[in-house]
Amino acid sequence: MVKFKFSSTWRCDVVSFWKKNNEIDENNELELDLEHIPKHVAIIMDGNGRWAQQRHLPRIAGHKEGMNTVKKVTKIASDLGVKVLTLYAFSTENWKRPETEVSYLMGLPIKFFDTFVPELIENNVRVEVIGYIDQLPTATRAAVENAMEQTKDNTGMILNFALNYGGRAEITTVVQEIASKVQEGTLQVAEITTDLLSSSMMTAKLDQYQDPDVVIRTSGEIRISNFLLWQVAYSEFVFLETHWPDMNEIIFKQALVEYQQRNRRFGGLKK
Ligand code: FPP
Repeated sequence: MVKFKFSSTWRCDVVSFWKKNNEIDENNELELDLEHIPKHVAIIMDGNGRWAQQRHLPRIAGHKEGMNTVKKVTKIASDLGVKVLTLYAFSTENWKRPETEVSYLMGLPIKFFDTFVPELIENNVRVEVIGYIDQLPTATRAAVENAMEQTKDNTGMILNFALNYGGRAEITTVVQEIASKVQEGTLQVAEITTDLLSSSMMTAKLDQYQDPDVVIRTSGEIRISNFLLWQVAYSEFVFLETHWPDMNEIIFKQALVEYQQRNRRFGGLKK
């Protein structure tokens, strides 16, 4: 039997990066190159439940604190000049959670926009949503649509919530739409290109920023969980041990520093 010695190099990077977060002093801020801030930052906000559990609190306390973190990170990203901040708030698979938790999560956008829209307007932030919002409870959908309407003229950062969003569902919907057009004779098979698929995705509303430059996932899990499957083809990934409610300005900036150290080649050669 051949035995493999587990090589943990890649995992160590994550862990050492996390240690670095805890050792940061204010000077580390200087490492962040403000001229090369990623344009589209996408975040899988994981660890709300574990954050609460560690404090002997119900899981929903973690989601509540997670919502406050959304407010903080929105402000930080907008101040840094990020163009699009996409936040994975509820997946098409999250309906499998207990009804009480789902119901709490569905109430969060209402609470969030109730209190935060004036600040979004003050900061010139536009709200967008990707996901199947027609399947949301009426009040949740109304809160989201109101926020989009109230901020539609803002020209600064786009705060893009992925709400009842799933990458596989999104691709399936696009394939169905394209197949229908071919069937009715309004589209030729040869006209099905990667550009056509990109411009048919829910992220098309983000124009030139539709693909994330960096995907950050908190809480130590190293997986994509059905998030922006088409769009992350050439995204950089930064995995943090920090639970989402503990995300703060220093950790967020360190994640961007980590991104800035990557050599993006998009399948080409190093410049
Ligand atoms: C995953 O952590 C988190 C979620 C499924 C919900 C994320 C939602 C928020 C952070 C608040 C969103 C705010 C607005 C305004 C919509 P988890 O619960 O799976 O954590 P665990 O893995 O530790 O259990």
